[in-house]
Amino acid sequence: MSSRDADKEFVWHPYTQMKDWNKWNNRVIVGGDGFYLVDKEGRKYLDGIASMWCNVWGHGQNEVVEAMVEQMKNLQHSTLFGLASGPSASLAEKLARLAKGMDRVFYTDNGSTAIEAAMKMALQYWHNKGKSQKKEFISLEHGYHGDTVGAMSVGYIEKFFGAYKPLLVNVRRAPSPLLYGSKFDNENDLVEQCLEKTEKMFRKHGGRCAAMVMESGAQIAGGTIIYPAGYQRKIAELCRKYDILLILDEIATGFGRLGSMIEYLAQKSQPDIVCFGKALTGGYFPLAVTMTHDRIFNAFLGEYSKNKQFYHGHTFTGHPVGCAAALANIELYEKRNLMQQINANAKYIGSRLREFAKSPIVADIRHKGLLAGIELARNGKPIVMLKNKERINYFIVHESLRMGVHLRPLGNIMMVIPPLAIGREDLEKIMDVQLEILRKVEKLSG
Ligand SMILES: Cc1ncc(COP(=O)(O)O)c(C=O)c1O
Repeated sequence: MSSRDADKEFVWHPYTQMKDWNKWNNRVIVGGDGFYLVDKEGRKYLDGIASMWCNVWGHGQNEVVEAMVEQMKNLQHSTLFGLASGPSASLAEKLARLAKGMDRVFYTDNGSTAIEAAMKMALQYWHNKGKSQKKEFISLEHGYHGDTVGAMSVGYIEKFFGAYKPLLVNVRRAPSPLLYGSKFDNENDLVEQCLEKTEKMFRKHGGRCAAMVMESGAQIAGGTIIYPAGYQRKIAELCRKYDILLILDEIATGFGRLGSMIEYLAQKSQPDIVCFGKALTGGYFPLAVTMTHDRIFNAFLGEYSKNKQFYHGHTFTGHPVGCAAALANIELYEKRNLMQQINANAKYIGSRLREFAKSPIVADIRHKGLLAGIELARNGKPIVMLKNKERINYFIVHESLRMGVHLRPLGNIMMVIPPLAIGREDLEKIMDVQLEILRKVEKLSG
């Protein structure tokens, strides 16, 4: 390496202004210790964002890791193109038992491609049924479904994806049930209006619409928006009424984030296609699934020459190490009664958020399970820059790391999204650090 390269960062980091990288980032993570990440200087950071919302058990040695190592010793990889594999078959069976109403599991390697597979599945379902006119998608405002082309199209966020518009397909967007900033003062009226507008859209465009795509239970990246009770169930009913497939994205919300293992069951909203990822392997391996029921699956059966088969697959589809991780992970959920712990910790977060609500710059708090968004604003405007000329999101990241916790807000929204099995003491530390940072932002934004 030449001396010119000594400070060079060769890694191009995601969602990162690389011009600012070297100014402050000298933290190279080399190890894990419980819910802490350890950098090469030996400094420890509590993983306050569950390593991008996916970590369940913390970091280091545990049963899931052991299952992965065992699998790695026996079979490192084998394809699902033309061959079956033990772990992928066992996991599919397990998932079909958990995700009631779903019969088949299609494997991908990450959430975005699980959504691509779901969209292709919906399009080809109608194509195979002889209804090729049903080729459009409707999704929700503020939705986010990943960074591949189809996923960006249905989860379009202008700030992120404006430059990629030429690649994207046109998608109609139904209103998202966000009370904050709306003209309503109660959720019932808001939901009623959202459903009315959505139904109008379905009535007008349903004949051409293949599927409605939405996050299940809550929208996270688009602003931590928790659906009011009953909203998702009614959307599912509307989909059925207008013969539109419902694709639910449980990539970030499934497996416990909102207090339920399978969120659509808690919401009483049976989908036609559902995607899981992130916590599926405890956050240890890139694996995601797109599940569906036999009515969809059967439309792909036929004479080979009729070309009804599903033309989707990746080299690492159904990777045996990922499947072994997911199997051990699910077993551990059951063994450790994780949902009970999550629900107790959710109550604790709720009680702590009362302190946040008193702040003059907290404009709204949205909370469910182990997810909370704390919206910071002054005089009705989102706080973007602080008096010290630092951007609020940078400030929160830097300050939290300095205090030994890794936090990452969504712009002006502070986020509580810890590893799912976090213990009370560590959770208390995350809430304490968030509160201390809030106090600093109060002063720096006044
Ligand atoms: C709801 C939702 N869907 C899809 C994705 C994309 O998943 P991945 O980052 O694994 O591609 C994410 C990622 O944050 C997400 O939150």
